[in-house]
Amino acid sequence: MSMLTLQQARAHVTPRGQVTLWWLGQSGFIIKSPGGIVLALDPYLSNSCKAIGDEHGFDMNRLVPPPLAPHELADVDAYVMTHSHHDHCDPETLAASRAAGGRGPYVAPAETIEKLKSLGVPDHELRMVWPNRVIEFGDVSLRATFAIPLGGDDLTHVGYLVSVKEGPKVYFTGDTAYHEVLAAAVGPHKPDVLVTVINGAFRNLSPAEAARLARELGVRQVIPTHHDLFPDNSLPSNLLRTNLKFLGIGETFCPLRHGEKHQIKSLNH
Ligand SMILES: [Fe+2]
Repeated sequence: MSMLTLQQARAHVTPRGQVTLWWLGQSGFIIKSPGGIVLALDPYLSNSCKAIGDEHGFDMNRLVPPPLAPHELADVDAYVMTHSHHDHCDPETLAASRAAGGRGPYVAPAETIEKLKSLGVPDHELRMVWPNRVIEFGDVSLRATFAIPLGGDDLTHVGYLVSVKEGPKVYFTGDTAYHEVLAAAVGPHKPDVLVTVINGAFRNLSPAEAARLARELGVRQVIPTHHDLFPDNSLPSNLLRTNLKFLGIGETFCPLRHGEKHQIKSLNH
């Protein structure tokens, strides 16, 4: 694991036609465009899920510390979330960021917007999305995508297709089960890279289902997420590699390390 600061991300120059990712663990990422836009996606930089796990009999005590201090998020251009659960919309991460002066825009689907309001975020900082809703920040476009929720506590889960002008398109599944609509909806946009949950629990894609989705989308890289942070929600990412190889696309496997920079070139164009 490498420790990251927003200053490092700000100082990094993403070459034209590319996009830069830093994985924060679980589904969290810092994303930087060639135009200098810095986004945070689903940052979970606390240990707030431990108490929820204890309540329900799951060990959700994080296995590794966060590679970025939550107050650093005060300096992002937008704070983007896929759904309302603490490992994606974390009250402690949000509070630390806001205490350091962080303000919106916060991009999120409906029930996450409600949660953000309850946490004190004013309306004018909120930008609501739904599947196929597109929001642009400079040279970055975010298209919310269809995702299947865990249960009735939040039925408005989304994923995101992040596109950089003249650059790669990266599809973040968000938490979702497998459904043919995932590929049917995102496939026509021709994503280059799939960033997918693989934990195979809590109704999320298993490594085999993630590999199937990758084959359906025809992506050139598959980045595993959401399998790394909690004892009762973890598995080795090599299971994704095994399943990709089984489908004849093993070369797409692209595991990341927490806090380390990953440069994505435009692979399809
Ligand atoms: Fe999650």
